[in-house]
Amino acid sequence: MIGDYSERLLVQEVAPRDGLQIEPSWVETADKIALIDQLSLAGFSRIEAGSFVSPKAIPALRDGAEVFAGVQRQPGVIYVALIPNLKGAQRAVAARADELNLVLSASQSHNRANMRMTREQSLAGFGEIVALAQDYPVQLNGTVATTFGCPFEGRIDEDVVLRLIDDYQALGLQGVTLADTTGMANPRQVHDLVRRVLDRVPAAALTLHFHNTRGLGLSNVLAAYEAGARRFDAALGGLGGCPFAPGASGNICTEDLVNLCAEMGIPTGIDLEHLLRLSRTLPALLGHELPGQVAKAGRNCDLHPLPPGVG
Ligand code: COA
Ligand code: ZN
Repeated sequence: MIGDYSERLLVQEVAPRDGLQIEPSWVETADKIALIDQLSLAGFSRIEAGSFVSPKAIPALRDGAEVFAGVQRQPGVIYVALIPNLKGAQRAVAARADELNLVLSASQSHNRANMRMTREQSLAGFGEIVALAQDYPVQLNGTVATTFGCPFEGRIDEDVVLRLIDDYQALGLQGVTLADTTGMANPRQVHDLVRRVLDRVPAAALTLHFHNTRGLGLSNVLAAYEAGARRFDAALGGLGGCPFAPGASGNICTEDLVNLCAEMGIPTGIDLEHLLRLSRTLPALLGHELPGQVAKAGRNCDLHPLPPGVG
């Protein structure tokens, strides 16, 4: 047997944030809320519902406060907001986000392109956010973007990533996400880094965030799972991408990931049929086809009738 696939794989849905942030056409606030409300019924325990960043940087998500106010909160679902700085954190706690996902990049160049700050400036801001969060019922997660490679700098030294994780832990952040912002990771690299990180961070506090830019997204998930990781971000339809990373494209596709798990017997607790129905509404909402494959192909169990005359 290659591995033990009996432990639950936790899927965090990020389409409302990572997915919509790069969409060229405006998605109405009511449509964002409806999408999140439908995702809330699919069995996710965590949904990244928006970001509180500069509206000039990401105009597509400038209605974050209205979205968080309009969502029908389901018990047991944690609604996460992506945050770059103290101002974002102030807006997010006012909007009653359950968790703040603080983001900086392992690559200094990408941090400057994305956040207009050095890594050190980002970290100093996170210190202010930690102080603010003490007065609110909010959890904190820290993401290391470009962990597995940067479109400006190439390969990232693993020790830089490990030091940033140490910084997050020293700040008291409860969770850590390692993000492959432009799909540069490979399964061997993922396996090795996850093993090292799990010496520092419990599996229950570690999330992997892969993009499928070079077709390796689900291979990377399996490599991480086999190395002990249990939590993964994914976006409905395979939407997603960072507008400040050249060549960025979609996250791993949620329903393709849930289908992989269903076929392999890895429990997720997610309702795949519900997801597929929801994913098939996205082309009409967004005006284009999506990269997800199972929504187009159907599941293995969706059998076809034999052609006439074939007995
Ligand atoms: N939410 C809303 N507005 C914000 C903000 C936030 N979190 N942070 C800053 N602003 C506003 C400031 O109030 C200021 O407004 P003004 O021009 O009306 O005075 C303006 O944005 C510039 O502020 P400044 O602090 O100088 O920011 P900047 O222009 O150097 O940009 C960031 C820094 C971090 C705000 C910006 O680069 C950003 O939002 N990046 C996030 C990008 C992103 O979401 N990437 C994808 C996800 S990883
Ligand atoms: Zn991403």
